[in-house]
Amino acid sequence: MENLVTAIGTPNIALVKYWGKRDVGLNLPYNSSLSMTLDESLNTKTSVLVSDRLQSDTIYIDGAQQKFDDAKEEKFALLAEVLNYMREAASSSSKVMIVSRNSFPSSAGLASSASGAATLVFALNEAFGLGLGQRELVIIARRISGSSCRGLMGGFVKWERGELPDGTDSYATQVADNAHWPEVVDLIALVSAEKKRISSSEGHRRTPSTSELFKVRPEIAERFAGMASRAIGQRDFQTLGEIIIKDSNNMHATMLDSYPPIMYLNDASRRIIYAIHDLNASEGRIVGAYTFDAGPNAHIITLKNDIPKIKAALQGIASEEKIIVAGQGSGPRVLDESESLIGKDPFGQIKM
Ligand code: PMV
Repeated sequence: MENLVTAIGTPNIALVKYWGKRDVGLNLPYNSSLSMTLDESLNTKTSVLVSDRLQSDTIYIDGAQQKFDDAKEEKFALLAEVLNYMREAASSSSKVMIVSRNSFPSSAGLASSASGAATLVFALNEAFGLGLGQRELVIIARRISGSSCRGLMGGFVKWERGELPDGTDSYATQVADNAHWPEVVDLIALVSAEKKRISSSEGHRRTPSTSELFKVRPEIAERFAGMASRAIGQRDFQTLGEIIIKDSNNMHATMLDSYPPIMYLNDASRRIIYAIHDLNASEGRIVGAYTFDAGPNAHIITLKNDIPKIKAALQGIASEEKIIVAGQGSGPRVLDESESLIGKDPFGQIKM
């Protein structure tokens, strides 16, 4: 068997967050979460070469070879499991070479692992010619990185918590596609490209096991996810914006309440929070709704017409070249062979 496939995928930004796993092995969440899939302003490109001519499985991310048995990066062991599962499903014994490149810094709270995992699962399905449906791909991606399962489709996506212990009812479905409410965009203010001190895997364990506040978080987030989904259906930005702000602060409160505490926000993040509240107060409506993942970079969810107002409010905190505006995307897609990151001649060469 020999096949070379290249795909492009994008991060998704959670508007109602997933934090804490009720089952660590299966990546099952304590609550449903809801996200917006971003357009290709930020993207991951992944080439997968499946070939009998390869001696072993290899993976390169952003130019560096990674080890499937890296003790510090448990995601790679999960990735190896997924790779073996898909290879078996295709009744293949061919080895695989994976080359993946992010257009943005990884491990800085910009969802590079979510974008990477969603794109990889999508590309493996194509490379092995498996033809798996979206629900199966979602469940496979969820095992590598929970939040990645929301990135296999476009627009607004809800990942259901589910009830079953085997996780078969914990999958993501589209709430609305990217044509439903295209005015909603994510203005990202980069305040740091530093790698986070505490991985999200560690945080997902530490917060539920040590935070008193976390006891009430799942019920609150579950309610927010339902309300956000309805607000999206009605294109009600005032309701959605308030939920986004409250949910981000609620999650970060449980992080701070963890022991030892987890703090992802920095001074610039806090200045952005105040600047957005000042702007919203002076306009008498929610113009921007900030949300932060496991990092200090701000995602300000806003409507296209209000982008200049948000940029003006951020002056002196985040300069123009540190701002990326991403619209909504439609999920991963296959790219033309000319865009491959792996050469066929010489065989298996990594293209720069
Ligand atoms: O999927 P993970 O393990 O990278 O966790 C992501 C957690 C947050 O980004 C903080 C929230 C979310 O729902 O994306």
